[in-house]
Amino acid sequence: MSHFQINLHEAIYSLSDALDLVGVTHIHHGKRVAFMAAECGKYLNWPRPQLDELFQAAILHDCGVSKTAVHAKLAQLEWELEGEHCDIGASLLASCALLRGLAPIVRHHHTHWSALQQLDLPPELKLAANCIYLVDRVDILTLKFVTSGTDILLGKDDIREQIHQHRG
Ligand SMILES: [Fe+2]
Ligand SMILES: [Fe+2]
Repeated sequence: MSHFQINLHEAIYSLSDALDLVGVTHIHHGKRVAFMAAECGKYLNWPRPQLDELFQAAILHDCGVSKTAVHAKLAQLEWELEGEHCDIGASLLASCALLRGLAPIVRHHHTHWSALQQLDLPPELKLAANCIYLVDRVDILTLKFVTSGTDILLGKDDIREQIHQHRG
């Protein structure tokens, strides 16, 4: 039997690079979501292991998307019906022993808090999934500024207001 030594962080980053090649209109989405989610976790004083898990789940959160057409649908704020990529992503992660723990977070990264809080899951997992959902939508809202070459900071109040309207 062969044995391999891998650096898990590098392997996850490589997977994220591969994902960037799928959503050609939305490059580095996973990395931006991961960095924003980690900043939220730091603000909330989450412990290091929880932050690591959040970052890893966030950087791979759309690993169930394999079509550019699905990426295009994801780039709409009100889009919520394409839950298939959450289940596919969770199944892919669950098939790998090193990434299995990220699967439930990825499965629920588009589950509304109203439904998520009813589920029998650990509270840290629900918060991680909902944190990714939040910053994922923030990243979608910044897209129009990025693509038009406008400074994102000019839109921060508008983005904050739109996110606030979807609270709860
Ligand atoms: Fe997604
Ligand atoms: Fe996403």
